[in-house]
Parts: sequence; C-alpha cells; structure tokens
Amino acid sequence: MADIVILVGTESGNAQMVADVLKDELEGHGHAVSVTDRALSEADFASHEVALICCSTHGNGDIPSNILPLVEHLERGKPDLSALRYGVIALGDQTYSETFCFGGKKLDAAFAACGARKLGERLEIDACTQPLPDEEALQWSREWAGLL
Ligand SMILES: Cc1cc2nc3c(=O)[nH]c(=O)nc-3n(C[C@H](O)[C@H](O)[C@H](O)COP(=O)(O)O)c2cc1C
Repeated sequence: MADIVILVGTESGNAQMVADVLKDELEGHGHAVSVTDRALSEADFASHEVALICCSTHGNGDIPSNILPLVEHLERGKPDLSALRYGVIALGDQTYSETFCFGGKKLDAAFAACGARKLGERLEIDACTQPLPDEEALQWSREWAGLL
C-alpha cells in the first residue's frame, strides 16, 4: 500500500472537492492519504512515495496562487524528485481553448523535469461538459490506483 499526498491547486474549491473524494476512495483501498493545498518543499515529498496533483487553471492559463510558489521552486531549483511517482488530474474549461488545463499541464511538466515518474495518463476534466468533476476523477482513480 502506498503513502500518497494529494496536492491541491484551487481558486474556487472544485479541485479540493475532487481531492477529498479521492482521499476517501484511496483510503478505502488501504493507502495512507493526506491532502494539502500548501506548496510543499522537496523535503515534504521525501516522506511520500506518490503525489497525486489535483489542479485547476485560472486567469489566462495560470496556476492557482496557492500552488504557484511550488511550481516556481521546482522550475528554478530542479530538486531531485526521482524517488517520487505522481499522477495528474487537471481541471479546466474548454471554453478557454488556448489555455485548456494549463495549470495541471504546467505542474505535470515541472514534476517530470525534476525526474519524478508519472503513473498513467493525465486526466483533464472539462467543466464545460462535466458538471460532476469528482465522478470523472473517481472513475479515473480506480485505474490509476491499479498502477501503484
Ligand atoms: C476567471 C477564470 C479563469 C479561468 N481560466 C481558465 C483557463 O485559462 N483554462 C482552463 O482550462 N480553465 C480555466 N478556467 C476554468 C477553471 O479551471 C475550472 O472552472 C475549474 O473547475 C475551477 O476549479 P477550482 O474551483 O478548483 O479552481 C477558468 C475559470 C475562471 C473562473
């Protein structure tokens, strides 16, 4: 069973709601799960085997402000995260066609650049066509959890 931290990037709560639902689901399968909206340091990551990023997009393709310092830190410092496995759930809206899910995509790229190993494909949830992001995430997580 894995020790998972769910990292939330949110402005208006949708990503937090998804994270809370997935915490219950993953704990139900015996994993140890914590949820945080803090921008963790690499020392924090060292105490977890797996990070599940759950991040929306705001402004014009921008990362939510609560998680922005983490991304800047990863991009600048390139800490070694090769011991970490991660998954990405990106929340966005296809109405913003030029910047769809850029928040989650930027986090994905930042973790990959630090050597973390991605599990499965990134889930991109479109608020325009999916009024229930937690249901889509729950379905995705069942397959994703099989990769842990
Ligand atoms: C002001 C504003 C700007 C947004 N900009 C984008 C964007 O550039 N790209 C995108 O894919 N979604 C964009 N969205 C959609 C949000 O990412 C989407 O509604 C998401 O579910 C919000 O999640 P949150 O409540 O966790 O922040 C924007 C939403 C708002 C309200």
